[in-house]
Order: sequence, then structure tokens, then C-alpha cells
Amino acid sequence: MRIFQQCLCLSIVISIRLSSAAEFPDFASLPARPELPDPLVMLDGTKITSAADWTAKRRPELKALFQHYMYGYLPPKPQRWAVEEVLFKDPEFLNGKATISESRLAFFGPDLKQRLYVLLVVPNGRVGKVPVFVGMNFCGNHALTNHPLVHIPEGWVYKSCAGSENERATEKGRAGQIDTWNLDLIVERGYGLACFYSGDLDPDTPDFSDGIEPSFYAPGQTTPKPNDAGAISAWAWGYHRVVDFLLLNHSNSIDPKRIAAVGHSRNGKTTLLAAAMDDRIALAIPHQAGCGGTAPSRVDIDRKDVETIRRINTAFPHWFCDNFPLFNEQPDKLPFDQHCLLALCAPRPVLYTNAIEDQWANPDGQFELLKAADPVYRLLGAGGLDAKERPEIRKLVDSKLGYYIRPGKHSMDREDWGVFLDFADKQLGK
Ligand code: GCU
Repeated sequence: MRIFQQCLCLSIVISIRLSSAAEFPDFASLPARPELPDPLVMLDGTKITSAADWTAKRRPELKALFQHYMYGYLPPKPQRWAVEEVLFKDPEFLNGKATISESRLAFFGPDLKQRLYVLLVVPNGRVGKVPVFVGMNFCGNHALTNHPLVHIPEGWVYKSCAGSENERATEKGRAGQIDTWNLDLIVERGYGLACFYSGDLDPDTPDFSDGIEPSFYAPGQTTPKPNDAGAISAWAWGYHRVVDFLLLNHSNSIDPKRIAAVGHSRNGKTTLLAAAMDDRIALAIPHQAGCGGTAPSRVDIDRKDVETIRRINTAFPHWFCDNFPLFNEQPDKLPFDQHCLLALCAPRPVLYTNAIEDQWANPDGQFELLKAADPVYRLLGAGGLDAKERPEIRKLVDSKLGYYIRPGKHSMDREDWGVFLDFADKQLGK
């Protein structure tokens, strides 16, 4: 009887402790665990043995854990949004092979002053609905094409973007990233692309007040709480809003079941988070995403060859929530590692793509995390990673969990897009 009572008490304590993210343990009470945490073991030690328990228990817990300790809670979907204006629509794009349009979205409740410009390219003359990639770009939609009507962002842009003058985009940057996005190839292969600029939602600066985040603060709040959204969460929210837009406004041409997310580097970190948090994203390609995305947080903190979380939190203090730097010197206290974020995408296909000279993104560590997420995919009967060793250069592993590494540097190029499209063909069907 006493044993029964004790068990009962313990289970009540555990369920109370885990009933809300606010009650997750503070940093000091988290145990150090040098090994990768088992994605199939709950924070209270309960082993997950069925797909139903993964979906009902562990998945919501992991979603909350990542937001609480690392990225900050994604802002909620606004009560209302609207296409404020379709800026233009041109069915003669790429010699009539595609239709290009751009829409400006506005958000209300809370009312955001920011506007999201979505560039949409859809191949013409296809039978049936087309699959579409949703991507976030670094330099503005106008950088994807030489089309003269595409909007040039008015706000902050990176100094490194073509045509950037005093951190503002100019006409000179039009088509500056044409070789990064390869619209002609995407269209030729029968896919659409919906693209937006990260700075529309949150300029990539350490200023915490210039993005959408403060609009979601509680009354009287002036600074972020330790688990409020960092920039990556705000950007992931943008992927979700573009999915809303595609489903509501373009479901006659876009296949709602074949929406893929893609992004490079910091935008790849965002891609993985966006896919982990939203099942409407059918496939994710976080390209060269590295630390804070596809690579492990548990690396020797003194390593100089790969990025550590101390390094990333120092160089980019605004990307994650304020709880995350607590782990700078002790990443082994994190109650998860990045394979758990990947596992949140199960059973959907995810491809990790890398480059040999981009060791900073830890391509070997990334492969280990694919292996570590595999048991969740297998539990869901979804296949997994069909490779035991990191594949040779230019050999695509196109199983549900996929991997590819090419020669060269940190960039997104035509070869990468060829691989993204091959993987999407295989996993989403032609
Ligand atoms: C830096 C940063 C990386 C990031 C990359 C990028 O190198 O350290 O974490 O992925 O920028 O976004 O290009």
C-alpha cells in the first residue's frame, strides 16, 4: 500500500513538474550528460516504445524543451493576416516557362508594422498541382532574378549583399543571388519556389527591438523573457506564414502535400526548426546549417575547427533565446541535442547537405546526428538512414534521412539544387 502511495505521489509530482514549460528545471538542476540524450526517453526517464506515445507525449515535450532552452517560443500565429497587395504577376517569366508574382502580407492581432513580401514562381503548363520549395533568402527577393518588378527591401540588409550601400539594398543588387537560387532549374524540374527575405521579419542585427518579436510581448514588457523568441524563431514563424499563404491563396496550383522548406546556413537552422514545429512542411533541407541547427551542441568547448555554442552565442547573441548561453561552458547539460530537433520532423524526409571545406558546420557531427535520430523514424515505421558511414563525396544518400557532401565551400549553388531536387523527386514523388 505504501509503495502504491509513493508511486502515486511520484507520478503526480512528475506530471506537475512537466505540465508546463515554465516548470522545466532551471539550469543548475539539469544533470550533465556527455552522451547524446536518447530521443525516445522522456525528461522524467520514461521510455517511449510506441508511435502513439511519441506523438502524444515525447514530441510535445521536445517541442517545448527546444523552445524553452534554446530558440525561444515561436510567436503565435496572428489572429488575422491578409494579402495587402499583389505587387505584380507575370506569366511570361523565363520565356513563358513560369509565372512569377509577388505579394505583400500584413498581420493583425497583434498588428505588425512589418510586411512580408513573398515572391512566388510557379512553372506553367504542368498537369496537376506542383510541389513547391519555401525558402528564406539573405539579400531580398530582388536578388533572385533580374525581373525588374521584384520589390527591393527598404530596411536593413547585410553589407555583404551585392548592391548593399550603407546596409540598404539598391537596384545594383538585382539578380545578385541568381546563382544561389537557380530559378530556371527549379522550374525546369517542375517545382515552384516561394521565397522571402529574413530581414522583413527581423533584421539580423543584435538589436532586439527591430523585429516582430516585441509586438508579441505581454503588456508592460520591454525586453525579452529568457524563453522569448530569438531571431531564428521569428524567422521560422515566417516560413509558417508563407505556408499559410500558399495553402489559402495558391492551393489551385501548389500541391499542399508537397511543400518543402529549404535554407542555407543560419537560414538552414531556421528551416529545420520551422519543419520540426510544423507538420505541413513535408520535407526539409537545412543546407550547411551547422551549429544551432544540424550539428551537435555537444562538442568539446575548446575546439577551434567547428563552431561551438559558446562561439555562436557570442557572435550572434540574438539568434537564440536568453536561456541558451547558460549552456555555453556546459553543453552537456542540455536535455536534448540537435538529433532531437531532427526527430521532431519524423516521419517526414530530411536531407543534410554539406561541403568538404565547410568544416565549421561540422559535417561529420551532422552525420552522427542522422544516425541518432534514426530510431525515432524506425519507431514510426518511416524508414530512416540507409547508410552506416558518411558517404563519399558526391554520393547522395537518398533514404528518408538523407545526406550529401560535395567538394568546395560554404555556399548554395546549382549543384546543391540538383541534389535538393533529386532528393525531393525521390521522397515526394515526381
Ligand atoms: C557564421 C556562423 C554559422 C552560420 C553562418 C551563416 O559562419 O558561425 O553558424 O551558419 O555564419 O549563416 O552563413
